[in-house]
Amino acid sequence: METARVLALRHVHVVMAVRNMDSGRKVKDNILQDIPTAKIEVMELDLSSMASVRKFASDYKSSGLPLNLLINNAGVMVPQFMLSQDDIELHFATNHLGHSVSMQRRRKVINVSSEGHWFLYSEGIQFDKINDDTRYKYGQSKLANILHANELAWRLKEEGVHTTANSLQPGVVVTNLLRHRSFLDVVINGIDKYMFKNVQQGAATTCYIALHPQVKGVSGEDFSDCNVAKASSMAEDRELGKKLGDFSLSLTDPK
Ligand SMILES: NC(=O)c1ccc[n+]([C@@H]2O[C@H](COP(=O)([O-])OP(=O)(O)OC[C@H]3O[C@@H](n4cnc5c(N)ncnc54)[C@H](OP(=O)(O)O)[C@@H]3O)[C@@H](O)[C@H]2O)c1
Repeated sequence: METARVLALRHVHVVMAVRNMDSGRKVKDNILQDIPTAKIEVMELDLSSMASVRKFASDYKSSGLPLNLLINNAGVMVPQFMLSQDDIELHFATNHLGHSVSMQRRRKVINVSSEGHWFLYSEGIQFDKINDDTRYKYGQSKLANILHANELAWRLKEEGVHTTANSLQPGVVVTNLLRHRSFLDVVINGIDKYMFKNVQQGAATTCYIALHPQVKGVSGEDFSDCNVAKASSMAEDRELGKKLGDFSLSLTDPK
């Protein structure tokens, strides 16, 4: 909600793609209470379902709404192995595949990744074990976010297209993402607000990339704390990025 609020405040016509329309409409009403002139729409999208992603893309096209900036923010972090509606490990399906399929190439793109992309296996993404219930990792999907933005940035540059693709690591933010934490985590929850970022701080880097003139024309970078940051060396590996692209296509191509 915070990113949508800030963009609306800056006169961006915002379309929120949400899986729960009731919650989405409530967020829209809250933003409108704050900013009565906000232009804001809500559309249904369940990133964990390829059918929903394709329906969203088609609905969006027929809506006639412009699409100049795509922020791939939605994501999950679940405590146990789960499969998506298409039988793909839930982190990989929701956090990467759903976004990559809905992504149009000639738009400015911002992928919200995570510091979690550092915590991985030595080969980064274990493509042959994506659905292995003992090997799945949230971090694989978050590495995929950076690789995907980088690959897009490289291709845009090669094709001479003047638009940008970047990623970011928001830091540890007290949000619903952490809702599945253990009892011990809940006990220390009280001190979270002193150690971690609040929601406004957590959304700041996304808003910075989306809006700040300093970032105009910058592409293929990873950001943190409103600055260009260093992602892991695996995130810079173009071969891995290409492999991810081929693998993602093999899972999502409707044939
Ligand atoms: N919080 C952190 O410390 C942290 C750290 C690093 C990176 N991140 C990244 O930041 C991004 C935002 O997370 P957050 O912290 O703001 O968590 P959040 O409060 O749980 O928000 C995640 C959003 O994603 C939506 N979502 C989940 N599954 C979806 C699906 N299948 N289809 C459509 N929407 C779906 C959720 O919808 P519902 O409201 O319906 O659940 C929710 O609105 C994520 O990509 C996360 O990986 C967060």
